[in-house]
Amino acid sequence: MTPRCKYLATDIIGHLAFGHALATQTDEALRLIPRAFAGLNPVVYLSRYSAVYARLANEIRTTFSSGSDIRQGPLLASCKYLRAVIDETLRICPPTPRVMWREKDPLSPEPLVVDGDIIPPGTLAGVGTYSLMHNPEYFPEPFSFRAQRWLDEAVEEEDPKAKEARAIMRRAFIPFSLGDRGCAGKALAYSEMSPTVTKTLCFMADHNGPNLVFRAREDYWEDLVKTS
Ligand code: HEM
Repeated sequence: MTPRCKYLATDIIGHLAFGHALATQTDEALRLIPRAFAGLNPVVYLSRYSAVYARLANEIRTTFSSGSDIRQGPLLASCKYLRAVIDETLRICPPTPRVMWREKDPLSPEPLVVDGDIIPPGTLAGVGTYSLMHNPEYFPEPFSFRAQRWLDEAVEEEDPKAKEARAIMRRAFIPFSLGDRGCAGKALAYSEMSPTVTKTLCFMADHNGPNLVFRAREDYWEDLVKTS
């Protein structure tokens, strides 16, 4: 993708999510915005799902009485709905939506077996991240943003079938890939995304119709100055 296309796409996303362009085509200083998108992707979905926004804002605003408390630790980890929103975002809009190709290790004497089939040496095999995470067999209503799907543990404990479906769903959740070549920065990615979303909803943002409006929330912005 050329830079010009990237800026155009960013400005269109701005229109869809916030109701106005992010002006990255014309304002060089605003071109930092696409880099912040991995952390802010959940915010785009929050603009479209007002009930999700309301529940998450409530969780964050009742957990943290001051913006300066927002940091890695037990309090942030206790925000279960936050984690569900982040995971649902990574599922519905994976930052790596492609096939991650693999081939047999030429030094290994063991054959590479996938689903009972031997993959001949030199042949590339892979799974499409996007298609796997939109397979309705694993993720019912895959095109709906349903953060709740990650939180139904209590109900499923009593229902062995639902418990098994949930275990399969978890195995099919691969935004960071798996195994030896899985993402080395997974923990870091969560530790960046969680406070980014939390601070955004603590310091500003209100749901106003189909859009999120970023205006300072009471005097919480003073913490933003202190903690930035
Ligand atoms: C939401 C954020 C992120 C996502 C969804 C993500 C996803 C992925 C995926 C799918 C792979 C495997 C690629 C492949 O096999 O072709 C990967 C690899 C990798 N990621 Fe990430 N990543 C994220 C953030 C980060 C961060 C913050 C870092 C480090 C600062 C990082 C470091 C790496 C490294 C070093 C690898 C290569 C691992 C290897 O090949 O051994 N990632 N990532």
